[in-house]
This record gives sequence, structure tokens and C-alpha cells, in this order.
Amino acid sequence: MNESRPESMSSFWMPFTNNRDFKAHPRLLVSAQGMYYKDVDGNAVLDGTAGLWCVPCGHAQPKIVAAVSEMVGQLDFAPTFQMGHPAAFDLAERLMDYTNHKFGHVFYTNSGSEAVDTALKIALAYHKARGDAGRTRLIGRERGYHGVGFGGLSVGGIGPNRKAFGPLLPGVDHLPHTHNLGKNAFSRGEPEHGAELADELERIVALHDASTIAAVIVEPVAGSTGVLIPPQGYLKRLRELCTKHGILLIFDEVITGFGRLTTPFAVDYFDVEPDMMTTAKGLTNGTVPMGAVFSKKFIHDAFMEAPAGIELFHGYTYSGHPLACAASIATLEVFKEQGILENAKSLQPYWEDAVHSLRGLPHVIDIRTIGLVAGIELESILGKPGARAFAAFKQAFADGILIRTTGDIIALSPPLVLEKKHIDELFGKLAAVLKNLD
Ligand SMILES: Cc1ncc(COP(=O)(O)O)c(C=O)c1O
Repeated sequence: MNESRPESMSSFWMPFTNNRDFKAHPRLLVSAQGMYYKDVDGNAVLDGTAGLWCVPCGHAQPKIVAAVSEMVGQLDFAPTFQMGHPAAFDLAERLMDYTNHKFGHVFYTNSGSEAVDTALKIALAYHKARGDAGRTRLIGRERGYHGVGFGGLSVGGIGPNRKAFGPLLPGVDHLPHTHNLGKNAFSRGEPEHGAELADELERIVALHDASTIAAVIVEPVAGSTGVLIPPQGYLKRLRELCTKHGILLIFDEVITGFGRLTTPFAVDYFDVEPDMMTTAKGLTNGTVPMGAVFSKKFIHDAFMEAPAGIELFHGYTYSGHPLACAASIATLEVFKEQGILENAKSLQPYWEDAVHSLRGLPHVIDIRTIGLVAGIELESILGKPGARAFAAFKQAFADGILIRTTGDIIALSPPLVLEKKHIDELFGKLAAVLKNLD
């Protein structure tokens, strides 16, 4: 294992990174175990973000490590185009069980971005398969994050992610976001105000006509934009409106899937069922890249009524990669055997209280929590949006905790295997960082 500093950092063009700043002041992780990373200097760093929201079961889970190691020696690769391998089918059945059979089929991808683009394409092709080819519009939401493919970018609503990349997909519209500090600041769980924002879909339908709209995609809880929690009743209302207008509803559960809200999916937490659900991240505990689109049976079945032949001209070389399947099967077993959801549930009130204990510290203008997620919003420095939270991120890392920031919002989403002592360490150190922040 290479635990030393690289000789040069110039060639790796890092994603979503201030490359020049990073390379001047690098933060290098060299190993991970349970709740902690170790940095290149040998310091322990408590993982307050489950990597990038993707390690619910904690790092280096022996069962997952063993499953991947075994599979790489047995079947390093197998195509899933006109071929197959048992683990891909086995995993699909297990995933149906894990969703409590709320969905009938799963399509594998390699990432959340690919899952989103796949779901959008399935939505378009579904309507076409039913002879409703005029339904081509896609509706996203302001401040939504659906990855970085052209489909996901187009329905996404984060300005800096979009504006360098031209006109994106045509025929896309956006619902308003639901963030309302004036009415909902310092909320626990679903905020009280804003369900009526779902009715904006009626405005979009009036503008374009329902017969032109294929799908609406939203994150049940928006994560990457800074933890925006849906107002009470909002998702149910959106479901009702989509059903009323024959529009498919897609939940992007790339971060909410696999336990983040203490339930298997946000679908279970909010008791609202979309027609498709996109997932990735926790699906393999972050060990091997994988994404998956879950679809209701009726969507899949519409394709199976076509004349014999390939039903959907879509897929990736690595769809259902054997290593990813092995990692995911082991992840589902770890969830069950180690009571990961139960642990998350039992710690949720302690987590929530710990986060809200930061209220009153300098610059903190909002705190919002749901499941094992927290958003801590800081007042921006005039003319320098994002600078204050980024300074907090750097200091936190130096002090041994990994947090994540977007704009001036700190987003926390630890592995679900954490214990009270980790919560104490995380918020003890974070409070000290915030107290000393300019
Ligand atoms: C809701 C949501 N959708 C899609 C994505 C994109 O996933 P990936 O980075 O695996 O492409 C993310 C990533 O954070 C996400 O949070």
C-alpha cells in the first residue's frame, strides 16, 4: 500500500475541486477503517460525511472486502449485453426484497449520474412505447442536483454546475426550490411551511400542457445543494399531481437511499411511492462504483409488449459488473446482520440534539436535520459566498474531522454505524471550529 505523498500532483485534474488551492495545501487520505480515515501524516480523521454520502456501513467492512476480493479472483468481468452472470440476477432479487417489492425491476448503471440519465431515458421511451411520444418534457427543480450527465445537469438546478455547458437539453422546466429560511429556520424533520410549492407543477402543466410532459424528477431530500428537506405534505402533493396528469414521478435517492433517513429509502420515510427511483452510493457501501434505477412493474412491462428484440437500446459496459454486484450483495447482508438501520434509528434523537446544540454559535443562521443528515447554514461573507464554510472545512480537517460544504452550508452525513462518542467528537470539534471562524 502506498502511504507516502505522491511525487507530483500536477497530472490529476481533480473533480469539483479548487485544484490550485488543493495542490498548494493537499489533504491526502491513505486508509480507512470503520468511522475513521487516516491521512498521509498518520492522523485519524473522523468521517462526518460517509465519504461522499456513500459509506453507510462504515469503512472496510470485512464482509464486503471479502466478497469483492473473492469475486475478482472468480469472475473479474462478464458482459450483461445478451449475456449474464448469476450475481447480477441474485442482487436484483435481493434489491426487490429490500424495497419491500414496491418496485418490480432494476436497471444497473455505474454511478448516480448514469442512473439519473437512465431514468430520464426510460421515462421518454416508456411514453413512446405506449404511443404517447409527445410526452418529451422533463421537469426538475431549482437547486436540484442530479449528477453531471447532460440529462441530470438539465433537470438539475445548481447554477454553477450548469452555466459553463451551453444550452443543455431542450424542453426542460423547473419547479421552485423549497428553501425558506424566513419561515422554516431551525427545523427538525420536515419543515412546516411550503407544501403549496408542489402546486407550481400545475402552473407548468398549464404552460406546456400535460400531454407534453414525460416526468418530474426531485430529490426527496436535496443533499448536494445543502440539505433541503421537503416541507410537510410536499412530496404527497407532488405525487398526486403527477398521477392526475399522467406524468411519471422519479425520486432521485442517490443520497437518501440505503438508510440515510433511518429507513431503507426516502420512499419508506415519507410513505410516497414514485414510479422510478435512482440510487447509487450506499448501494455498494461506496466500495465499487454502481448505480441502479428501480422501476415499477408497469413501466418495464410496457417495453415487453414490443415486437421481439432488444426492448431498450441503453446500457453500459459495466452495468451489473461482477465486483459491484458482489459488493452490493454483501452490503445488503451487512445492513441486516449488523442492524445498521436500527443503530441509525436509535441514535437519531441524540444526533438531532447534538446538531441543534450549535444554534447560537457565530454565523450560524440555520440548522436543519432529518435522519442522520444535518445542514448547518452560515451567514456568507459579503462578496465572498462559500468562503466562510470552506474555511471551516479546512480547519475541521486540520482538527481531525471530515465535513462537507456547499456554498456556505455545512452538510453532515456520517456512516450509520456511528456511536454516541463519535457524535460527541464531531460536534465538539465542529463547535470549536465555528467559535473561531472569522
Ligand atoms: C441526488 C444525487 N443524484 C445524483 C448524483 C450523482 O451521483 P454520481 O456522483 O455517482 O454520478 C448525486 C451525487 O452526489 C446526488 O446526490
